Amino acid sequence: MKRKELFEFEDFSWFPTSFRVAMTNLILLLHKIMGTTEVLSNLIIDLRKTIHFDSIVDLGSGSGGPMPSVVEHINEVQKEDKLRLLLTDLHPNPKLVKKINTDDNEFVTYHEDSINATNLSEVPKGLKTMIASFHHMNPEIAKNILKSASKNNEPILIYEIAKNNVPFVAWILLLPISLLILFVMTWVMTPFTKSITLTQLLFTYIIPIIPLAYAWDGQASLMRTYTFEDIELLLSDVKTSNYNWEINDAFKANGKKQGYYIKGYPLGGK
Ligand SMILES: C[S@@+](CC[C@H](N)C(=O)[O-])C[C@H]1O[C@@H](n2cnc3c(N)ncnc32)[C@H](O)[C@@H]1O
Repeated sequence: MKRKELFEFEDFSWFPTSFRVAMTNLILLLHKIMGTTEVLSNLIIDLRKTIHFDSIVDLGSGSGGPMPSVVEHINEVQKEDKLRLLLTDLHPNPKLVKKINTDDNEFVTYHEDSINATNLSEVPKGLKTMIASFHHMNPEIAKNILKSASKNNEPILIYEIAKNNVPFVAWILLLPISLLILFVMTWVMTPFTKSITLTQLLFTYIIPIIPLAYAWDGQASLMRTYTFEDIELLLSDVKTSNYNWEINDAFKANGKKQGYYIKGYPLGGK
């Protein structure tokens, strides 16, 4: 397997919530810059042609990620068959949970308790989505997630922003410059993130722990991302004749490649 089991600060339970929130807000901004909403909306609209579902459970939602805007967009174009979205995370941010759950939007809610993506039996029915979070799962857990989607006969859509196509040696050699680029990017992007706090500004510009952690996690994510070959390996004893798997590059409307996806759904609808 090409994927490397590196650590990310974001995964440590001792990592301060305010830093994790600042980092997932930076990821949210990155999604906006990259146009992830458009890519995911098209994938989900397409999947709905194959199998009907009216609810989505997003796993590892962080600061919401792109899914609320994906659902808003789909509900605008598919007015007759609106989708509901439940956001979940291992480390839900209580302030965001409260904000989303008291907003007027009846179609989007955030589960206030911790939901571990590794235990899909705890999770309500509907399309499961994992946006930029599947690489956080080690191979055994990743395989279990795929297996339980297939066993429960429910659709799943996994999306990763980038492909792990840099050789490990080149990644190590380029690490100092790549970390520096992400570090500087954090300084540039921070003023454009939502809900900026004084703690975030302090630990971004004066004591730059957030840029350091964001830079490391970004680089580690690249090496933790499953390649197509890795995914085929995970699926080797998961595949059944009544459940279909599709692994492919994702595209924007202008034809530009934008990350990749794994789509799983029961054959013959449900
Ligand atoms: C890189 S962030 C992505 C957040 C969001 N989906 C987005 O695209 O902006 C990964 C998220 O996965 C969550 N996470 C990590 N391990 C998890 C697990 N076992 N179960 C649920 N969430 C998990 C982290 O807390 C974090 O919020």
